Amino acid sequence: MTIPFNKPHLTGKEAHYMYQAVADGKLSGNGAYTKKCQQFFEDRYGFKKCLLTTSCTDALEMAAILCDIKSGDEVIVPSYTFVSSALAFVRAGAKIVFADSMQSNPNIDAEKIEALITPRTKAIVPVHYAGVACDMDRIMEIANKHNVLVVEDAAQAIDSYYKGRPLGTIGHLSAFSFHETKNIIAGEGGMLCINDERFIRRAEIIWEKGTNRAEFFRGEVNKYGWVDTGSSFLPSEVIAAFLWAQLENLDEIQSRRKHLWELYNTGLSPLASSPNSLIALLGLPEYATNNAHMYYLVCKDLEQRTALIKHLKEHDIQAVFHYLSLHSSTYYADKHDGRDLPECDRYADCLVRLPLFYDLKDEQVKYICDKIVTFIG
Ligand SMILES: Cc1ncc(COP(=O)(O)O)c(C=O)c1O
Repeated sequence: MTIPFNKPHLTGKEAHYMYQAVADGKLSGNGAYTKKCQQFFEDRYGFKKCLLTTSCTDALEMAAILCDIKSGDEVIVPSYTFVSSALAFVRAGAKIVFADSMQSNPNIDAEKIEALITPRTKAIVPVHYAGVACDMDRIMEIANKHNVLVVEDAAQAIDSYYKGRPLGTIGHLSAFSFHETKNIIAGEGGMLCINDERFIRRAEIIWEKGTNRAEFFRGEVNKYGWVDTGSSFLPSEVIAAFLWAQLENLDEIQSRRKHLWELYNTGLSPLASSPNSLIALLGLPEYATNNAHMYYLVCKDLEQRTALIKHLKEHDIQAVFHYLSLHSSTYYADKHDGRDLPECDRYADCLVRLPLFYDLKDEQVKYICDKIVTFIG
């Protein structure tokens, strides 16, 4: 039996809470489970306001509306990221100015951002790849100096920290994903977090189709109506009920994933020091924590990565590469300004992700490490 790259983990209470939501007779969004989940995140991490969404992509689209992105505005986004980090802003009319990754890890190189700022820059979107923090002090310093907004794409970054501060609490806005490949899942799901209080009221309105329905149900206004733009960004209570079962087990899920991650790291560390093999260690800067979202290797070139993935497949292990550079994608290549982004291209060619999920067994990790060591040896 093949060891899959990912297998969604169920805590056992999901169906029970989903049934409970049905039995309570409140299935549309912003009900009891939605409120419980949002409160959980606000209490645990200190976000000023959380709003569950149907995906991280939706949360990023809400962020683009809140940033008031208009045609011709520029948004700085790393090229090594998922489509949504850029697409959400493109849909609002932005021109994406792609930034390169660091040499030491795939995150945006904060030192190269300032040179990309122009009078049209509206926002910077740092993506915490693999749940590892970008250099947020430097990014906020540049943003404040030039009066631009920061939207953290924290899709992979639940329960991870930058200098002791939870990721997603530092930028003006941030977006998380609960897609089935993430540490905490809801099938499809996401969350917008608002740290700058100026945006809270408008965010609630955008969330509920441009209406002030949330204020009405809190008794703050005596009727509700259409007051702004928006969409149906909120998930149903069934999704929130599923997510609640996961949140109750967040610490246990994190501790199991970190254990597996450490097993990989112990098994593969020796490879990092071998001159022409693989860089086995995730480049964890001293300011960042590891939330065990991912274990990846960076091969020396595309040829080596292709051979490694094939070798693992022959041993029933599914290892996968990740993003293709967005600046040279079919959709954006002719809109890109032509700058080379060599670090991004290197990660697109050389990075490979290994299976990492809650139900993966210790012996399976040891088996995978063995097969990689044999390949290199
Ligand atoms: C960095 C990043 N941003 C955004 C997304 C989009 O998340 P969702 O599938 O919840 O829309 C993903 C999904 O994997 C991602 O990895």
